[in-house]
Amino acid sequence: MSAAPTAAPLPSTLFADRVSRIGTEEAFALGALIREAEAKGDRVIRCNLGQPDFPLPKHIVHAVQRALDDGLTTYCDPQGIPELRTAVALSIGAKHGLDINPERVVVYPGGRPPIGFAHMAYSEAGQEVIYPSPGYPLFESFVPYFRCAPVPVVLREEHGFGLTRKELEPLLSPRTKLIFLNFPSNPTGGVATRAQLQELAELILEKTPPDVRVYSDESYEAIIFDGEEHLSIAAMPGMAARTIIASGVSKTYAWTGGRVGWAVYPTVEEARVHRRLAINYFASIPPYNQWGAIEALESPESPPAIRAMVDAFQRRRDLVVPALNAIDGVTCQNPKGAFYAFPNIAGVVERLGIEEAFDGLAQNIRDRSSPATLFQLFLLYRYRVATMDRRSFSTLGSEGQHYLRLSIANSDDELEEAVRRIAMASQDEAGFRDFMASGERYTL
Ligand SMILES: Cc1ncc(COP(=O)(O)O)c(C=O)c1O
Repeated sequence: MSAAPTAAPLPSTLFADRVSRIGTEEAFALGALIREAEAKGDRVIRCNLGQPDFPLPKHIVHAVQRALDDGLTTYCDPQGIPELRTAVALSIGAKHGLDINPERVVVYPGGRPPIGFAHMAYSEAGQEVIYPSPGYPLFESFVPYFRCAPVPVVLREEHGFGLTRKELEPLLSPRTKLIFLNFPSNPTGGVATRAQLQELAELILEKTPPDVRVYSDESYEAIIFDGEEHLSIAAMPGMAARTIIASGVSKTYAWTGGRVGWAVYPTVEEARVHRRLAINYFASIPPYNQWGAIEALESPESPPAIRAMVDAFQRRRDLVVPALNAIDGVTCQNPKGAFYAFPNIAGVVERLGIEEAFDGLAQNIRDRSSPATLFQLFLLYRYRVATMDRRSFSTLGSEGQHYLRLSIANSDDELEEAVRRIAMASQDEAGFRDFMASGERYTL
């Protein structure tokens, strides 16, 4: 048996330059850091995960099993099987009072590919892409990859992390091509009100030409609290012709491993172009999982399963948010949807002298870190709680903002213990100084 070859450095000419211009989703980097922390000590409480801690409902499992038993394991329609496209069109149409032709629907392996395809298909190099900051990282990640110009719209805590006309209007320009929206929002849990969506729609129709697209990421559409209903900007007058509505099974049905997502395009012709891109990239997605998705969308067993999950998230929100607000130096908005708390830790950053510690780091480290990142790492390595930092959710616009994202997709006991540890860490000046002096880790 020959020994495994030792890794030689890759030649700098190996990859095309564009590879260095694509970003990432730091949530995936954290797994390795958690393992590293656990190798040195106790178990880490995971409040970093963007996936529901519920099993896939059994009726959906059975539908996938039936499809496998029926031998549905081959290539299929690259746009998505017609039965699933019809189910998506009917479900979204009924929710928002829209008449959707299933030929406008394209099915994807999850909610990520249509984000990249939107950048690829609609925005030429040099054109501007507007996206929320804080926001889901892939909106920003693709912008330099396609040599477009990033235009982050900074969402404000004082507006409940919604988006107002006043905030969006100054960012629109003749170069604007694509506008990403995401309500309920990852990472803030913010939900735009009907009035906000209406004024955004009016602004977009007034100030941008018909070839500007809004990408409305509605992945968390089912996870809304306090009896509120999910609204889509596509349902505002005139916006169906402008909006791409995207969602999938990952969050609504607790099925992140199913890799089924979809996008509804404004026209059949646009969907045809996206069908062509799909053929080039993945040809088709597993038909058995598409049958599972049909069951998910159509079965009367789904609404009660979703209700039970959303009730649990709301109960945990009501446990976690007041406990976070009780920590001296922390303020936390009440999320209206999704399953994240997004506490402002500015007071803790000040008390522990984190900003000064950050300023003392070398420039090449500071470029990849932030004061909130340092507190996130201190929490991970010294208090064994995994969270996400503000910087992981759109880097541009994150400067000077001190937030963490805590996923509440975890048990009540774990969440209570996590907040107790955060409270202890937030008082531990000596511990933080020691952590910084140890040089253990300053970046993700
Ligand atoms: C806002 C948002 N959009 C899209 C996705 C992609 O999810 P998936 O690819 O699992 O459908 C996520 C996942 O966290 C998300 O938070």
